[in-house]
Amino acid sequence: MSSSPPAAITVRRPRISFDGVPRHWGRDPFETHFLNALSSTFPDGEAFFVRSVLAYREQIDAPELREAIRAFAAQEGQHSRLHAEHLQMLIDQGYTGLAARNRLTRWMMDVSVRRAPRASLAGTAALEHLTAMLARKILNDPEGFTGRMHPAMAALWQWHALEEAEHKSVAFDVLERVAPSHPLRVWMLASNTLGLFLEILDRAFYMLWKDGLLFRRETWAQGWRFLFGTHGFLRGLGPDYWRWYRRGFHPNDVDDSPMLDRFRPLIDAETVSRASG
Ligand SMILES: [Fe+2]
Ligand SMILES: [Fe+2]
Repeated sequence: MSSSPPAAITVRRPRISFDGVPRHWGRDPFETHFLNALSSTFPDGEAFFVRSVLAYREQIDAPELREAIRAFAAQEGQHSRLHAEHLQMLIDQGYTGLAARNRLTRWMMDVSVRRAPRASLAGTAALEHLTAMLARKILNDPEGFTGRMHPAMAALWQWHALEEAEHKSVAFDVLERVAPSHPLRVWMLASNTLGLFLEILDRAFYMLWKDGLLFRRETWAQGWRFLFGTHGFLRGLGPDYWRWYRRGFHPNDVDDSPMLDRFRPLIDAETVSRASG
């Protein structure tokens, strides 16, 4: 299969204020807390991605890939920063159990980077496959997702999604150069998909429980609709997901350039101009 050329990776430094974001900023409490849960893993998760890739930077000779690593790390650093601000909002709202969960996952990721750098890099590449998939979902279905969110949260997700699509091949390209292994790739996506899903459910259920909504039938109906309904978050992801398991897969097999061309001007107008000011 022919691959599209790698996308340009632009480092944006947006400022998004979470002042005034209501407790339930999505269509309903389940959607809000599922996405809150995902967001709350990013401050440490993104730092883990960066450490995992930078651990191999000195082994990369190709100047374009070295430059892509630099831009990838800068983008993920910005994602960490803004999702940390969002996490602080959640802690201030009383979801303090998120901080304890992050202490545990931070410790686990730290051990992983130090003791199992190859698996950490492969895990990062695998999780970047998931974020690239979700980026396509979020950007291509504004009616289903960002269109019905509080504007600050919509801006956070759209900006992050765009940059995930821009740098989707960086960790993969590093992995292919320093530790190419199809079984490792397969195992790391399978195990990380399950691990991330359970982590998100644990955090989402915790926040719904804090709100007194976990055991309501309506909450479960919201969950079904959000995950599997007409615009469901997981709906239609199968072919995109399974692509990874094929031998010879490359992230650029999916040509995201029409999507990037469409959304870059919109998101740059919001971010680059403000950041350079
Ligand atoms: Fe990111
Ligand atoms: Fe990423």
